[in-house]
Amino acid sequence: MSFAGLPHQVQLAWATCDAHVELPLVEHQAVAGAVASRRREFTTTRALARAALARAGGPAVAVPVGADRAPVWPPGWVGSLTHCEGLRAAAVARAREVAAVGIDAEPLTVLGASVTAAVLDPEERRVAARLGPHGPVTAFSAKESLFKAWHPATRIWLDFDGARLADVRTDRAGRSGTMVLEIGAANLERWPGPRAVEAAWEWEGGRVHTSVAVAARTDSGPEPRPAESSRRGA
Ligand SMILES: CC(C)(COP(=O)(O)OP(=O)(O)OC[C@H]1O[C@@H](n2cnc3c(N)ncnc32)[C@H](O)[C@@H]1OP(=O)(O)O)[C@@H](O)C(=O)NCCC(=O)NCCS
Repeated sequence: MSFAGLPHQVQLAWATCDAHVELPLVEHQAVAGAVASRRREFTTTRALARAALARAGGPAVAVPVGADRAPVWPPGWVGSLTHCEGLRAAAVARAREVAAVGIDAEPLTVLGASVTAAVLDPEERRVAARLGPHGPVTAFSAKESLFKAWHPATRIWLDFDGARLADVRTDRAGRSGTMVLEIGAANLERWPGPRAVEAAWEWEGGRVHTSVAVAARTDSGPEPRPAESSRRGA
């Protein structure tokens, strides 16, 4: 399992079934009134968040739910969580290396016309169609990854028309590549990344996995780059 395109500075932990672990009180309280399936996905993904933090040398702390539903990472850390049928995943990185990260996974389905229209305008639909019937769900997931990176960094809501799908690139096997998402001109001053963001996408195991990672600005040191070493299961 992988989220292609995540730089090696991002530590990923993932699972294909749910864990039975005790949560810190603040996390337990966040889902105490939720249905069992929600408690299970939440519990597993929080455990993965701690596993990823531990592997990256981070603190063993609770990851509370913020007022805007974003996970609250310990100071000096950024991260992102996703859960869908058959997969839970957590990605974390040191904020001094990665300014923003977002991951998303969705079942590899053919989106209905009304959902597609809510996510992509006619020109974007033409771009997404280059990937065939799974283009729209791939673009949907890429936009959700962008949102998960964008919102904690800016605290600004971004609708699906707040970033436009401008281009799709595909590797030779045709099952992974990148999407270029151009963020609308407004509100860019708080965003640590470029206006045209590259979201990585990959089709694997009946799902689409997408990710967005923005390098922290430093005076020295290499830019984050893709590597295999940090992609490990739980
Ligand atoms: C928040 C949202 C992106 C979550 O995506 P999803 O496919 O529904 O669900 P996933 O399982 O992949 O991700 C859920 C996780 O997202 C994270 N999340 C929720 N709100 C978030 C926010 N404001 N910022 C960052 N991460 C957030 C949480 O960790 C959540 O898991 P948890 O509740 O167990 O902690 C989605 O529900 C949403 O509101 N989308 C509309 C905004 C958007 O995508 N705009 C596109 C801009 S181009």
